[in-house]
Amino acid sequence: VATRIRLFETVVKTDSRTTQFKAPSHEIDRRRNLAIISHPDSGKTTMTEKLLLYGGALQQAGAVRQKAEQRATQSDFMAMEQERGISISSTVMNFDYEGYRLNILDTPGHQDFSEDTYRALAAADNAIMLLDAAKGLEPQTRKLFEVCRMRGLPLFTFCNKMDRPALSPYELMDQIQDEFQLESFPVLWPIGDGERFKGVLDRMENTVHLYQKSTTRGGKADVVKVPLDDTEKLQELINDEELFEKLMEDKEILDELVSPLDMERVLAGEQTPLFFGSAMTNFGVQLFLDKFLTMGTKPSSRLAVSKADFGSGDDGREVVAPEHEEFTGFVFKTQANLDPKHRDRLAYVRVVSGVYEKGMKVGHSRSKAGKKYNLAQAQALFGSDRSSVEVAYPGDVIGINNPGSFAIGDTLFTGNSRVAFPGIPSFSPEKFCYIRAPNPSDYKSFRKGIDQLLDEGAVQALRQRNDDGGGPLMLAAVGQLQFEVVQARLKNEYNVDSIMEPLSYSLARWADGGWDAVDKADKDGKLFGILVVQDRWKRPVLLFRNDWKAASLTEEEKYLELKPWSS
Ligand code: G4P
Repeated sequence: VATRIRLFETVVKTDSRTTQFKAPSHEIDRRRNLAIISHPDSGKTTMTEKLLLYGGALQQAGAVRQKAEQRATQSDFMAMEQERGISISSTVMNFDYEGYRLNILDTPGHQDFSEDTYRALAAADNAIMLLDAAKGLEPQTRKLFEVCRMRGLPLFTFCNKMDRPALSPYELMDQIQDEFQLESFPVLWPIGDGERFKGVLDRMENTVHLYQKSTTRGGKADVVKVPLDDTEKLQELINDEELFEKLMEDKEILDELVSPLDMERVLAGEQTPLFFGSAMTNFGVQLFLDKFLTMGTKPSSRLAVSKADFGSGDDGREVVAPEHEEFTGFVFKTQANLDPKHRDRLAYVRVVSGVYEKGMKVGHSRSKAGKKYNLAQAQALFGSDRSSVEVAYPGDVIGINNPGSFAIGDTLFTGNSRVAFPGIPSFSPEKFCYIRAPNPSDYKSFRKGIDQLLDEGAVQALRQRNDDGGGPLMLAAVGQLQFEVVQARLKNEYNVDSIMEPLSYSLARWADGGWDAVDKADKDGKLFGILVVQDRWKRPVLLFRNDWKAASLTEEEKYLELKPWSS
């Protein structure tokens, strides 16, 4: 009996734990986690596919062209994405290559979905900025670059579409330097562009890679490697005197003028390794992949806010390293009906430290201390395909069933000390509409669908003041397309029609001064032409028709403390 009691005590003391939660260092070291940012049409889908192709995760790249024929690529799985040929939701793809485990966080390129992109960047450790070499920096690249900088992500730059007439590589370097104060270190340097694009110089190996144009778009390219000092052979194979001379001249200029590669500066976001190539014709993709694996950073430590932010104790901040002996992770995206056949809800969790094991119990940053959730089954995601995951390590992303308790920004953890990572802020909405179900018998399904889409953070909901849910429902989003997605998903996934009535407001501001401040402004007659509503947490939100109106109110009524999003 005594032995039994002792055994029982041991089990209780170890929190029913049978496993080790510290991640093995070789699993951390081999992980590379990246997000690709770009302006629409720069070739992100093509590039993602080619990385998968070279990584061995795809046998044949389903060329982007097929999207037009309604055949989806692995990363564009939702019906609307297929119809329109755009990426709407961020998905995650992982594969093993040369001993590494790569996790690619796909981010939607369309500007209306920048909010989702922003969230995917919160889960990434490295970012790749993909540029169209003919266009250089574009509006969406600029916006996303700012997010990467804010997050301190190391940035790799790939200038794509070199098989088309392109800007001079020096011009591209200047743009990056002038606009982003970011120094480039060309790792690859192009030889010609457009029809005369012959290949690239690998400046780290002093080797020239000359490509044979691949005949099929989906296949891998044939490459001939020539050492830079084998000038005779180079001259013969480049077969263009002018390009050969230029290559030799560029090499000298770069060696003289460009500062050496400094990985510390790269990791600090001060220098960007620069690559040139053509994703569509496979020029430079494999080289990029190989270099990225050695240069990119492994899963990094994350700053955590203390439980003080949840109103229950310690002050101060702490850093959670991947080697920390407990499991921690945070939700950066939630999604309903990934597979309409299953009608389930998933929360995407980025593992920050420790080991995820099937069936483990975790605490939750927003729940009471002591409350545990059983992570019975996690899934690895690959576009619309999923497979069950037994273990996951720092840097990995797992999809866990979401009974409705997990929201974007939430932290999950094992062990007795509560951990919470900082939340992921939302972008300020710029589009507003009323939405309703025209058919009263659909009301229940309509509410269910809307509630789930709101939980996902697909759009935000606003209501009239003091409305507990019976009044008209207003949706707020960053872009019009988000509304269309809501409408399409209500139809496809919940089988309900909906009617939307657009509103002509274009700016939302949260009144941090609270309802008293709003009432004071109203009494003073300052809210003419401004719509006052409440958010999900019944906090006051003011909607304006233009920036000017908001600026003048802020100027006059400082006590309102208008903020672009809820704090
Ligand atoms: P995105 O996800 O960033 O929006 O870009 P996506 O990969 O969909 O590519 C946008 C267009 O650019 C596609 O052409 C694609 O074929 C083309 N593209 C991508 N990479 C390269 C490249 O390296 N060189 C050249 N020349 N083109 C490239 P499209 O005409 O819109 O579609 P499709 O008819 O080719 O499918």
